[in-house]
Amino acid sequence: MQQLPPKTLVALAILLAALGLVAYILFPKAPPMDPVRILFEGKAGNVLFDHQIHAETYGLDCASCHHNLEYGDDTFSCLACHEKDSDDPFMLSYTDALHDQCIQCHEEEQAGPVDCASCHSR
Ligand code: HEC
Ligand code: HEC
Ligand code: HEC
Ligand code: HEC
Repeated sequence: MQQLPPKTLVALAILLAALGLVAYILFPKAPPMDPVRILFEGKAGNVLFDHQIHAETYGLDCASCHHNLEYGDDTFSCLACHEKDSDDPFMLSYTDALHDQCIQCHEEEQAGPVDCASCHSR
């Protein structure tokens, strides 16, 4: 295999460094891991949940929904604990966990949809 001349190598190194700098300026941080919006699809009609607006604009604490943070567990998927077809009487199913949490807060805050059709509207 033929060796590249040293000048070419230096030029290549400078080019790569410049590309790295451009990438760093254009994409300064890794994409956020918190979802922006979540679309729950189902036979009752789809529900669009604006995660970012709930957390940032409405100023809700992560733990007000991800309640397990309070006991030091940082799993963010409800599904990890609230299973789809749970028949454990001490553990809400996924659907019940979401329904109870979404609707309870909307009732307490007197804000946000509380009836089926206005939430299942997408
Ligand atoms: C505040 C919003 C909200 C309201 C109000 C609401 N839901 Fe839901 N519902 C959801 C979300 C979010 C899910 C997603 C959880 C899942 O996939 O099981 C869901 C899931 C469901 C599901 C299971 C998923 C599927 O297969 O479609 C059914 C059935 C359902 N809702 C029916 C209803 C009925 C009936 C009402 C009124 C009595 C209602 N919902 C009110 C948000 C809401
Ligand atoms: C109003 C309620 C609410 C608030 C406030 C909230 N979240 Fe969520 N978050 C949810 C729901 C509901 C889901 C969907 C979970 C599921 O489908 O199992 C979710 C999903 C997530 C996921 C994706 C989990 C996965 O594996 O699918 C991450 C990460 C996350 N939230 C982080 C955060 C962080 C960090 C904060 C605070 C800055 C926050 N959330 C605030 C309700 C909320
Ligand atoms: C690490 C496991 C775990 C995760 C993840 C989790 N839960 Fe729970 N959840 C529990 C346990 C255990 C209980 C019963 C004991 C309690 O109340 O803490 C519960 C109870 C609940 C209750 C009824 C009691 C109450 O606080 O009003 C609701 C509603 C609920 N969860 C909703 C959710 C939602 C919505 C998510 C996702 C945003 C979620 N949970 C994520 C474990 C979890
Ligand atoms: C801890 C409180 C809280 C929880 C939990 C919560 N919400 Fe809300 N939600 C609000 C508030 C506050 C508003 C503000 C309404 C306004 O400003 O008029 C709102 C508004 C909404 C709206 C209408 C405006 C918009 O953002 O699109 C929808 C739809 C909605 N919520 C869906 C949901 C769903 C689905 C869930 C459960 C996955 C949920 N919310 C859980 C507090 C909550």
